[in-house]
Amino acid sequence: MAKQWSAPVLLTLSMLGAPAALAATPESLVAAYAAQAGVPVESIDVAVGEALFRQGGSSNKQCSSCHTQNPRAAGKTKVGKRIEPMAPAVNPQRFTDEKKVEKWFGRNCKDVLARECTPLEKASLIAWLAGLDREGK
Ligand code: HEC
Repeated sequence: MAKQWSAPVLLTLSMLGAPAALAATPESLVAAYAAQAGVPVESIDVAVGEALFRQGGSSNKQCSSCHTQNPRAAGKTKVGKRIEPMAPAVNPQRFTDEKKVEKWFGRNCKDVLARECTPLEKASLIAWLAGLDREGK
C-alpha cells in the first residue's frame, strides 16, 4: 500500500510550483515523507511528532505558541488571527493540500527551529495528528 502511494506523491512533492496533480491525504503525505526520509512507514514514531509540536523551539517560540498545546483546539497568530485546529479528526481540511503543507512547514520550521524540518519530523508530526480522535486526552 504505502509503496504504491509513495511514488506518485513524491513526484508531486518534487513538482511544487506546478498545479497540484493529486489530492493529498494525511496518509499519503506520511508515506511520501517517510519515503523521502528513506524509512518504512511502519517505523514512523508518532512520539517524535508530538515532541516537535509540544516542545520544539525555544521558550519564546514554539509550534504551540500559535497552535496551542491542544491540537484539537483553534490557535491564533501573534496578531490574533484565528488558526483552525491541526487535528484532521476535528478539521478535515488539514493535510489535504501538499503545497499548503510544504509552504507552512517551510515557514514555521524556520521561524521556530531556525532550520527546515526533516522529512522524518514531517512524517511523524502528520502521523501523530492524524492518529488523534475527536476527543481523547
Ligand atoms: C507564528 C505562528 C505559528 C507558529 C509558531 C507555528 N505555526 Fe504552523 N501555522 C500557522 C499559520 C498562520 C498557519 C496557516 C493557517 C492555517 O492553516 O490555519 C499554519 C499552518 C501550519 C501547517 C499547515 C497544515 C495544513 O495542511 O493545513 C503545518 C503543517 C504547520 N503549521 C506546522 C507547524 C509546526 C510543525 C510548527 C512548529 C515547528 C508551527 N506550525 C509553528 C502559524 C504558526
